[in-house]
Amino acid sequence: MEKVLQVKNLHKTYKTGFLLERKKVLHGVSFSVERGQIVGLLGPNGAGKTTTIKSILGITPVDSGEILIFGERLSKSAKAKIGYLPEAPYFYDYLTGMELLSAFSRFYGGVKRGRIEEVLSLVGLSEASKKRVRTYSKGMLQRLGLAQAILHDPHLIILDEPMSGLDPIGRREFREIINRLREEGKTILFSSHILQDVEMICDHVVMIYQGKVIKKGVLEEMLQEEVKFFEVTVEGVELEGMEAERKSGNRVLYRAESEEQVQEIIKRTMEKGGKVRAVVPRALTLEEIFIREVGKNEGSA
Ligand SMILES: Nc1ncnc2c1ncn2[C@@H]1O[C@H](COP(=O)(O)OP(=O)(O)OP(=O)(O)O)[C@@H](O)[C@H]1O
Ligand SMILES: [Mg+2]
Repeated sequence: MEKVLQVKNLHKTYKTGFLLERKKVLHGVSFSVERGQIVGLLGPNGAGKTTTIKSILGITPVDSGEILIFGERLSKSAKAKIGYLPEAPYFYDYLTGMELLSAFSRFYGGVKRGRIEEVLSLVGLSEASKKRVRTYSKGMLQRLGLAQAILHDPHLIILDEPMSGLDPIGRREFREIINRLREEGKTILFSSHILQDVEMICDHVVMIYQGKVIKKGVLEEMLQEEVKFFEVTVEGVELEGMEAERKSGNRVLYRAESEEQVQEIIKRTMEKGGKVRAVVPRALTLEEIFIREVGKNEGSA
């Protein structure tokens, strides 16, 4: 597989305030992104996602480390292959969507004929393209931002928190656009602090916490390899000494950590004259994995 992006051992210190206090925010961040992958850079507020992304784009200088894009140091030609949606994009809102993209296309040194219309259609803004950006909703602005990022048909698309502030419908629309880009074979890196978004969109995950990568890999493998537990729903009884996860009517849901515990719940339910309604094996969710990895990291720090 071709490595589209390699981030190697990034260290970054910001100097802030009047006294130029030093604050180290990246502590050896490394990961790579291969062709066609959709990678989620997942981490809580302040983890270092934006700093990592700005380092990749050459916007923020790093103390040390190396960034390779298509195997090369960041150059003008490498930059032309990257599309970028910043965390808080700012648009001249007295322009229409169409005018704004025309301006960006000139900035990119021209784009191929019909490309603006193509991109507007991809992000679902064809209708709105003649309206002033000032009248756009938050979701429309984010989609316009995405249109701007992909206007020059870059191969690598980097999106910083593209879904923050969007409602469920806006999120779904955004997911659908990402899926279309995936079908076109694009490579996408996007940051988020929202686990469900990452879980629904990405095939690879890089978890970042306090400037360190705490776990990375294939999302599906991560979810499957993780210790499973079971949800056992019983009816008509309550088991002494066991804490119910949920109760509704005369049904109670218990969480069993092992096969043995499942058998024990079944046995005790039968003995008390109750019924077993369901035994559902469950993998850990991404959220649970994330919280556990954070815990491990705190423990070792
Ligand atoms: N220009 C700056 N000067 C000083 N400190 C900064 C600067 N930018 C970011 N930081 C600090 O660096 C750390 C990482 O910030 P960063 O913006 O990379 O996090 P993030 O993961 O993108 O967070 P968020 O989810 O809130 O966007 C934070 O502690 C932040 O306060
Ligand atoms: Mg950020």
